[in-house]
Parts: sequence; C-alpha cells; structure tokens
Amino acid sequence: MATFAFLFPSSKAKLRIPTTVNYASIRYRLSEAPDGHTILLTSKDQTGRLEALLSDAELSFFRQMQEKDLRQVCFPRSEGMVWVRILQGVEEPALSLEDARLAGAELLPQLNTYKIDEVSIHNAGLSAEQLLAFTEGLALSSYQFIRHFSEPDKKAGSLHTIYLSGPEIQPEAVAELDNLVDAVCTARDLVNEPHGFLNAVQLADAVKTIGQASGFSVEILGKEKIETLKMGGLLAVNKASTVPPRFCVLEWQPASAKNAKPIVLIGKGVVYDTGGLSLKTPEGMEYMKCDMAGAASVIGALSAAARNQLPIHVVGLIPATDNAVNDAALSPGDVIRMYSGTTVEVVNTDAEGRLILADALHYAKKYEPELAIDLATLTGAAIRALGNQAICYMGTAPATTKKALEESGRCTYERLVELPLWREYGEELKSNIADLKNLGTGNAGMITAGKFLEHFTNYPWLHLDIAGPAYLRSANGYRTREGTGVGVRLLYHFLKNYASPEN
Ligand code: BES
Ligand code: ZN
Ligand code: ZN
Repeated sequence: MATFAFLFPSSKAKLRIPTTVNYASIRYRLSEAPDGHTILLTSKDQTGRLEALLSDAELSFFRQMQEKDLRQVCFPRSEGMVWVRILQGVEEPALSLEDARLAGAELLPQLNTYKIDEVSIHNAGLSAEQLLAFTEGLALSSYQFIRHFSEPDKKAGSLHTIYLSGPEIQPEAVAELDNLVDAVCTARDLVNEPHGFLNAVQLADAVKTIGQASGFSVEILGKEKIETLKMGGLLAVNKASTVPPRFCVLEWQPASAKNAKPIVLIGKGVVYDTGGLSLKTPEGMEYMKCDMAGAASVIGALSAAARNQLPIHVVGLIPATDNAVNDAALSPGDVIRMYSGTTVEVVNTDAEGRLILADALHYAKKYEPELAIDLATLTGAAIRALGNQAICYMGTAPATTKKALEESGRCTYERLVELPLWREYGEELKSNIADLKNLGTGNAGMITAGKFLEHFTNYPWLHLDIAGPAYLRSANGYRTREGTGVGVRLLYHFLKNYASPEN
C-alpha cells in the first residue's frame, strides 16, 4: 500500500548550496505562519490542528487521503511546497523519538527532488521533543561526503537550512540540536576522510582546528614527548610508519563544572589499520580508514559539550597512528614495554588498538577520573556478535553509571549491550614470556580485548567496542553510509544528564 501522495509537482525552487556545507543547518525562526516550503507535522489524533493551516481544498484532499490511510500529503502553493505528515509509531502504537527521526530521514529525498534549499517545520499537534527529533533525523540524513568529487556541487543535495518555530520550541533547544548535528557530522567527516588525507599528524591538526572552533582546549604531544614518556604501545604500533604518532589531549573545563574530577573519554585513533605484519586480507582492509572512529566520537562529544556549554569537566585522550608495514615493523612474537611498565607479548600485530589504548588508559590515571569511557573499533568479534545495531560494552564502573549510559543509548538509539568481564576470560591473556599477551584464544574476542584494557585502569571505567555501528556500507535511515558518528549523540546525552542538577 502506498503511504505518500503528491498533488502535483513543482520545480520552481532554485538550487543553492555552498560547497563547504554538506548537511543542513537548523535555525530558529520567529514566525508563526507557514511561509515558503513547509512541513506540517501532526499525529493521527491531532489532525484537527491542521484546520487553521490548510485551505478548504487542501483540507478536503487531505481528508480523502486519510481515508486511504496515507501518512503524507504534499500540496504546491504559490509560496512553496507544503508537506503534511502524520507521524506514527512503527513498532509500538506510541510514537517514539526514533520513529520521528526516521520520518525526518524519509522526507529528505523528496525535498531534494524538488531542489528545496530551505524548509520550515511547523507543529500541528506534536510535542517539542518529537518535533526536534524529526528535525534531527532530517538534518542528519542530509549529510553527504562529497568533497572528493571533481564537481561536488553536482552531487550535493539541495537542502541547507531547516527552520523551526512555534510556541513549543525554545530557541536554545534549536541551537543545541544544531550544535549536536554539527558535531556528529564533524565525526562523520573525520571517519570518511581517506587515509591519504588524514594521517596521524593531520588528525591532530584537525583536533586543534575543531577545538578552536568549538571552544575546548587542545594539547598535542609529538613523537619526542611520546618517547620521553615511554608510551611503548603507541610507539610499537607506529614503528613501521613514515608518519610520527600523536597523542592528543582535549579538555573542556568550564567554571560551572559540576564534577570535582573529570570524566575522561578515550578514542582509538588508528588512522589506517593494515594489520601490520599480521596483515589483513584485502576484504578486511578496504574499510580500515574507519579505525579512528572512536577518536572521531570523542572529538565530536567534546565539540558538542563545549559548543553547548555543558557544565561538566571532560578530558579527551586520543592516541593516533597508522598500523603500517615495512621492514621496521613490529614483529609478531615480539615483547614490548608499555607506558605503564607492563610487558606485552605481541602475538598478533593486528590487535593494535588495545596497545595504543592501554597507554592512553594509563595516562588517564593522572586525572584520577570520576569515570573513564573508551570508544574503539576494536574487534571483528563485536561486529559478529551484534552487527551494526548495537555497541558491545563492558567495564568496572558502578551499576548506576551503566544504567545511565544504557538509558542514553535507548534515548539516542545508539544502543548498548553489556558483556561480562569475568576473571576466566583474562586467563587467556597469560603469556609464557611477558606479563600479558595481546590476544586471547579467538572466541569472545571483544571480551578478551576488554580484559586486556582493564589491566591498565585503576578507576571506574567503561569500554565501548563500536566496530559494528561506527561504519555502514549502506545508509540506514538517518545514519548515512560509511562513518555514522556513533557515540557523539550517546556521549552528549550521557554527559548532559550527568551534569544535570537532578543527579
Ligand atoms: N580495527 C580492527 C577491528 C575492526 C574490524 C574494526 C572490522 C572494524 C571493522 C582491529 O584492530 C583488529 O584488527 N582486530 C582483530 C583482532 C584480532 C587479530 C585478535 C579482529 O577483531 O579481527
Ligand atoms: Zn587491527
Ligand atoms: Zn584496528
């Protein structure tokens, strides 16, 4: 059964999109009456609210379509196209925020078909939250990674501004959402940027630029400093690289911070993972520019926190390098001494993420964090377990913290599933020649990776293996293809709640 109806098409709107903008901005507009291209959002039991907004002819057409159970009707007007959309729940009778986001994403191709550059969203019977969620879905789905086409403008969709107005809408909430979408798209850009354009030095430079634009401070440790500190994990992974490693320290510390000790976020920044001498197969290597998605999430979360002035002290740590191969490469079977002093037998150089994260987790101890959360595209096992629908997570933080993070996961639809860190899994990491080895027996690889990381923590800690949801081969709703920016909305939601007075 068809779910949409068009009265008839219009093609008057002009195409106008600056090449530097690759997703739609969200703005608050002080206007009550629909004007220009307009989306009227309503729900099944609130369609009476449309009476004031539609002409008699439009209203009667809409009622006819409603009898046929259509969810969406489109009218041309002299001032622009008007979409009337009934939002309804997909799985449950109640309309969830995710349903609203997906409805936003569903509309985007139609706006682009009519080459619409600006659109206003009007409320005809929904809550502010539902309206914002629809807007979030529309804006996030408009993201494109087009800068490497020789004619990016030709590939660009038309939509670049979404206006929200109405008494239910707070201008601050609109600005907050715009900043959050911007942070997600920043993370997507970083993940999508191929290795040839984003090596470890370039990633660190990008962190500086983003820090300046967003208002968080950045310190970059270069190779000499990393050597002085004896970050043996990061240096070992970097051995075969022609590009030096970087260790990025990001910090957002507002005077209003509610926490006495910082929350530390740690992101795996492997800008490209060949596997090293334990070389990946071609099928495994093709997507490995995504191996800094954890770093991208941390950068995005700091950006959103700073732009929105969250009253919380957050530190971000990003160890960055590629995992390359040459005759100087780290060899399987070698033993390295980590920043913490622990020695590690490197059984497989493709299990490199845990080596660089371990040094960052040890570095985090100096902050005596209230909580540390690391994010990493760490294991294929996490993908095999949950696919791209959920984050595998585990850790030593209290149950209340885990509950709060899981709740943020449900709200943002960046959902988490907890796995155990039982002692027995750790036994697999015993080495005959060093304190630890970097690989378990093969089963439950995401857990043995977690056990390895746990060794380098002495504070409440959570590990998020985002290998599944960080990177999609094809778009899924408002999650555009390739880098999804997963983690940014989750962390922002979590940090905002953490800082809120009720907690
Ligand atoms: N970066 C990979 C994990 C990965 C795989 C991320 C696929 C995204 C998509 C990681 O460094 C890795 O290679 N892990 C290995 C570890 C193994 C050698 C123990 C894995 O999971 O296969
Ligand atoms: Zn690897
Ligand atoms: Zn990796």
